Amino acid sequence: MLKTVKDMNLKGKNVFLRVDFNVPMEDGVVKDDTRIREALKTINYIVEQGGKLALGTHLGRPKGEKNLKYSLKPVVDYINSKGYFKAVFVEDCIGEAVEKAVNSQSEGTVLVLENLRFYNGEEKNDPEFVTALAKPFNAYVNDAFGTCHRKHASVYGIPSVMDEKGAGLLIEKEATYFDKLVKSPEHPFAAILGGSKVSDKIGVIKSLLDKADIILIGGAMAYTFLKYNGLKIGISRVEDDQMDTVKLIYEKASQRGVKILLPVDHTISATFGGAPVYCETADIADGMMGLDIGAKSIENYKNALSTCKTVLWNGPMGVFEQDDYAIGTYALANHLASLGITVVVGGGDSVAAANKAGVADKMSHISTGGGASLEYIEFGSLPGIDILR
Ligand code: 3PG
Repeated sequence: MLKTVKDMNLKGKNVFLRVDFNVPMEDGVVKDDTRIREALKTINYIVEQGGKLALGTHLGRPKGEKNLKYSLKPVVDYINSKGYFKAVFVEDCIGEAVEKAVNSQSEGTVLVLENLRFYNGEEKNDPEFVTALAKPFNAYVNDAFGTCHRKHASVYGIPSVMDEKGAGLLIEKEATYFDKLVKSPEHPFAAILGGSKVSDKIGVIKSLLDKADIILIGGAMAYTFLKYNGLKIGISRVEDDQMDTVKLIYEKASQRGVKILLPVDHTISATFGGAPVYCETADIADGMMGLDIGAKSIENYKNALSTCKTVLWNGPMGVFEQDDYAIGTYALANHLASLGITVVVGGGDSVAAANKAGVADKMSHISTGGGASLEYIEFGSLPGIDILR
């Protein structure tokens, strides 16, 4: 059983809450606040229970250096401008600044510590850093699902040394969906896999071959599969060094009777993002590149999905950031939204696509984890969750 905040007595406690506020930023402005909004339930719950709360998070990859480009200050300003909660920025995550802020914290405020990754000790899970981080606190809650695949100080180190600990409500929700997906999915179970690289997803594909009934491939990954099958792919993106992996995938799929569906037509162009041309065959002409799945492929994929009870969607079908090449991705997003079955969306790009297609609220679960959701499927759990058990 996973102990959660609801099982903890937080009254009067100084609580360190690990959140994943690693949100996309552009020119110092938050571009998508899903991860912040998803943490609000836990934040409000702890405050309501009388806990004195400080949030710790990383933002980007400053690699152990204090680089203000990655400061949490603009995120704190954003939170206050939205009125999500009364956030008070603390300009360090360890030491005197934090201790002072905790000791003088006024009721109803939530401290937000500076970027944990300004210190090397965070990613290294350095024991001295763990001790410094934990020092002002006597309770620990983790709600940073998106970071639970990292054995970092704030994710793995503190809960290893602190007794009073538990999972936040976001982690509880994510773990419930992913547990069901990996342990007892309702069949037929389809996985839609897109995005650019087979090599990024080998682990998850291998694991899905043990669980899914159908795997639908799209995005640039599809051209590696098509090439393996002897089809022409023109100048499409391909990973020539992954042919042995694809061979193994097909061998395992045939042993388990898993169907692998590939595009049979495409939207192509002579250049990346150039004028779109319809290609009615699976073969792509010399000098052209595939940038989206075509109309016949969309129909095939929709028909296959209509037979399913569970779908995992990870990765777009084409270059959905450009309208000309978003048709396949949006068509599947809309279709999934209409099916009334369990649909779990994991991975940053498919979440962005579901949001852009305006159907995010029709999916059973939209994960806040990219790498974390893939590793959950691959390994059946995550270190940052296991350490709370
Ligand atoms: C993510 O965005 O996937 C998480 O915040 C983890 O970030 P990381 O890949 O830099 O560890």
